[in-house]
Amino acid sequence: MKALDIRNKYIDFFVKNGHAQIPSSPIVPENDPTTLFITAGMHPLVPYLMGEKHPKGTRLVNAQKCIRTIDIDEVGDTTHHTFFEMLGNWSLGDYFKEDAIKWSWEFLTSEQWLGLDVNRIAVSVFEGENHGKDSEIPFDTESYETWKTIFKECDLPTERIAKLNRDANWWGPAGQTGPCGPDSEMFYWVGNPDEVPDSFNDDHDNWVEIWNDVFMEYHKNEKGEYVKMEKQNVDTGMGLIRVLAAMNGLDDNYKTELFSPIIARIEELSGFEYGDRPDQEYIDSGEQCWVDTRRSMRIVADHIKAAVFMIADGIEPANSDRGYILRRLIRRAIRQGHSLGIEDNFTTEIAKVVQGMYKDVYPEVTQEKIVIELQKEEEKFRKTLINGLKLINNYESKISNDGKDITGKDIFDLYQTYGFPVEMSFEELEKMNVEFDEVELQKTFDEALAKHQELSRTASAGMFKGGLADNEEETKQLHTVAHLMLAGLRKTLGDDVHQKGSNINGERVRFDFSYSGKMTDEEKKAVEDYVNEAISAKVSVTMKEMTLEEARNNGAEGAFENKYGDVVKVYTIGKYSTEICGGPHVENTGEIEGTFRIKKEKSSSAGVRRIKAIVE
Ligand code: ALA
Repeated sequence: MKALDIRNKYIDFFVKNGHAQIPSSPIVPENDPTTLFITAGMHPLVPYLMGEKHPKGTRLVNAQKCIRTIDIDEVGDTTHHTFFEMLGNWSLGDYFKEDAIKWSWEFLTSEQWLGLDVNRIAVSVFEGENHGKDSEIPFDTESYETWKTIFKECDLPTERIAKLNRDANWWGPAGQTGPCGPDSEMFYWVGNPDEVPDSFNDDHDNWVEIWNDVFMEYHKNEKGEYVKMEKQNVDTGMGLIRVLAAMNGLDDNYKTELFSPIIARIEELSGFEYGDRPDQEYIDSGEQCWVDTRRSMRIVADHIKAAVFMIADGIEPANSDRGYILRRLIRRAIRQGHSLGIEDNFTTEIAKVVQGMYKDVYPEVTQEKIVIELQKEEEKFRKTLINGLKLINNYESKISNDGKDITGKDIFDLYQTYGFPVEMSFEELEKMNVEFDEVELQKTFDEALAKHQELSRTASAGMFKGGLADNEEETKQLHTVAHLMLAGLRKTLGDDVHQKGSNINGERVRFDFSYSGKMTDEEKKAVEDYVNEAISAKVSVTMKEMTLEEARNNGAEGAFENKYGDVVKVYTIGKYSTEICGGPHVENTGEIEGTFRIKKEKSSSAGVRRIKAIVE
C-alpha cells in the first residue's frame, strides 16, 4: 500500500463518519509564541480545543505536516524523524472515548480499510493517579472497558491492554495551562509475526506506537489543578510513515517509499549501499576508515527532507530561532554527507528528489527558492569548512611556536564560530600527526558546550514560558491590535502591504509585512494614530462566517491560500479592519488596555519588514 492510499483512506473513513476535512496548516505556527514549529495536528487547533467555534463544525480530520526537533538525537534510528505527517481526527465537544476507540480499531483492522493483523496490535490506557482528596484523576475505565470488549471479540489476550502512568499515557496541555487528558495508544509489533508476546511491554523496540487517541477532559489551571471540562474533546494522531511501514511489513521507515527514493540518490552520490551491514570500510588518503553508512544516510535523508519543508513554509537559514534550526539541519546533513565521502555540493540533488516525491500532495515544495537557499547555504558552509580547516592547520604552528597545546576550548571555538563539527576537528588533528588526548579534549569541549547550551536554554526558556493559554487575555488584545495595525499599515503604505507572519505573546506583537522601504517617523506615527483612534472609539468586533468568495468580495484582508476549506471566519473591527482569521479576539476595542506604540521597525528579509509593537 502507498502513502497516498493511506492518506486518502484515512480522510475518506472519517469523512464517511461525519468529519469535515481541513487542510494542513503551514509548519510555522500562527500567533502562537509557545513553540517554533507545529509539532502535532492539534497544534493549529488549540483555539478550537479551548472553546472557539470552528467554522467547519465539531468533527474534523486532516493530514498535518509536523516538525519535531526534540527527538533530534534519535534521528538515525528506524522510526524517528524531524519532519513527518500526522493523520488526525478531532471531536470538538462531540463524540468521546468509545466512538474514538472503535473508529481507530475499525480503521486499522477492517479489511475494507487498512486490514492490519489484529494479532500484532497492543494498546495502552491511563492507570490514574491521586493528587490528594479532591484532585484524583481516576483510572480510565471507559477506555479500558471499550478495549476489553474489542479484544474479547477478536480473541486477543487482555494482557495486551497495558495500564500505564502519566509519562506514557497523558497528553497536554500545550502551554502551562489548558486542555489535557489521558490518552490511549496503539502499538504494532514490527518483529516476527510468530513471536508476538502475549503481553505488552513498552520497553520493547518491536512495539512501535502508531496512533494516539487523546481524551481532553480536563483543564489544567494556573494553580496546577485539573478541572473536569464541560465540553470534552478528542484529539488523535496517527503517524503516516509508521503505518506505511507496518502495512508493508517493513521494520525500517527508510525502506518505505517516503524515503527509499532519497536513500537511492544518496547511494548513487556516495557509492555506498544502504545495506544491512552498519559499518562499511573505506580508504581515505591511504587510511582505513569505517563509517556507519546506514545511520549517515538516514540523517542526510531526514534532515534534507525537513529542510525542504521548512524553506517551503518561509523559513530561511539564520543564526536564531527557526532559521538556526534549519541551518543546523543542513550542516549536520553536509557533515554526514562528508563522512559518506560526498565532497561536491549535493543537498540540492537530494532536495530535488524530495520535491518530486511530494509535489502532488504539498505543491509548496516545488518553489524554486528551496534549491537556491540550499545551494547558498551549502556553498557557505563548504567555505566554512575550508576556513575551519585552515584555522586548524594553524594550530600546528601554534604548538611549535609557543608550545601551547590545543585545548577543548579551541575545538569549541571552531565549532561555535565556524560550525566546524568536533569529529572533523579530531580527524584533521590526526592527519597532522598532532599528538592529543581525545578523551580529555572531548571532555573540555563538552564542558564548554554544556555551558553554552545552558545559556541558550535559559534564553529560550523565556520563549516557552507563558504561551497562549497563560496570557490569554493579553494575547487576545494584541491579536486584535495586530489586525488594526495591518489595516493602518495598508492605509499608510498602500495596498501592496500584506501580512507575512506574526508572533504574539502576552507582552508584544512581532509582525512581518511585505514592504521594501524603511518607514519614516511620520508613517509610523500615522499607523499608531490609526490604531489608537480605533481603540478610543470603543467599536465592537464582530465575526461572520462566509465563503472565501464572499470574504474576497467584502474586501477582507488575509492570506487566502492556506485557509480552512471553503468557509472562513471574517472579523470586522468597526470601519477599521476586515480580515480573515481564526480568532480569538476581544469583543470591543475598548477592552484593549492602553496606548498602541511601535517600538521597532526594521528589515526582516528581502522585501519584508518587521515591527515590534506594544500596548502600554
Ligand atoms: N496530539 C497527540 C499526539 O501528538 C495526538 O500524539
